[in-house]
Amino acid sequence: MATTPEARPHQGEARERQVRTLFSEIAPRYDLLNHVLSLNIDRRWRRRAVDLLDVPAGDPEVRVLDACAGTYDLSLELAGRKGFSGRVVASDFARPMLVEGQGKLRGRPIAPVCGDTLRLPFPDGAFHRAMVAFGVRNLSDPARGFAEFARILRPGGRLVILEFTTPPNRLMRGFYLFYFHRILPLVGRVVSGHPWAYSYLPESVKEFPGPQELAGMLETNGFQRAEWSYLTAGIAAIHVAVKEGTPAGRG
Ligand SMILES: C[S@@+](CC[C@H](N)C(=O)[O-])C[C@H]1O[C@@H](n2cnc3c(N)ncnc32)[C@H](O)[C@@H]1O
Repeated sequence: MATTPEARPHQGEARERQVRTLFSEIAPRYDLLNHVLSLNIDRRWRRRAVDLLDVPAGDPEVRVLDACAGTYDLSLELAGRKGFSGRVVASDFARPMLVEGQGKLRGRPIAPVCGDTLRLPFPDGAFHRAMVAFGVRNLSDPARGFAEFARILRPGGRLVILEFTTPPNRLMRGFYLFYFHRILPLVGRVVSGHPWAYSYLPESVKEFPGPQELAGMLETNGFQRAEWSYLTAGIAAIHVAVKEGTPAGRG
């Protein structure tokens, strides 16, 4: 399927406008398409991301940021865990995504905040943990986003990033590219009614740095260790990074 100019990832502020507009427009169909197009694998990936976040159980003081939170699926995965007694702050700059997901919150300890991940509206060291699912690929400047995560985390605080990648295995990559570039944009366009949102997705994955490069970017933007692993034959990857410094208390 030919890629239209609107679907190609823009640069700088134009990218921010492009992304905010896109998610604001597809918000009503986002959850449905997410689970259908990923064949529900995304739920398993989010569970894994929350496992790796390693949040201490039974601690009411724990504060966790879910950046680029969308309709809260990652926040809900954490807040619904037995033993979680802290609070999740779920931030996103596309207000319609936050509004769309609000019905799912049902008294969970999740506070929505409309804010930009590149200029997080929180003081230094405000969080013990930070997590982001399918968000960093959309940032106009991922390195700046990582520096922001480092700023709002306490020393020793942990960041978990879940993001799409391109599978390293040739056979799997062929299947994946066919699905991502042919099937997904078509189904996405029919179901969402949006002319280019689901063509933007494969384009944004194509231009996003690979997992090793991403780990290097984390390590040069405030994190002392960044480890990563592939999920589902390399369709996605999870990075776990620890903010520089010695943790005080729950780190
Ligand atoms: C693919 S969705 C992921 C939503 C959610 N994390 C999930 O797992 O379903 C990406 C989200 O990132 C948000 N986003 C992208 N760039 C952002 C930025 N600079 N600041 C805040 N939110 C941003 C979009 O508005 C969108 O809701």
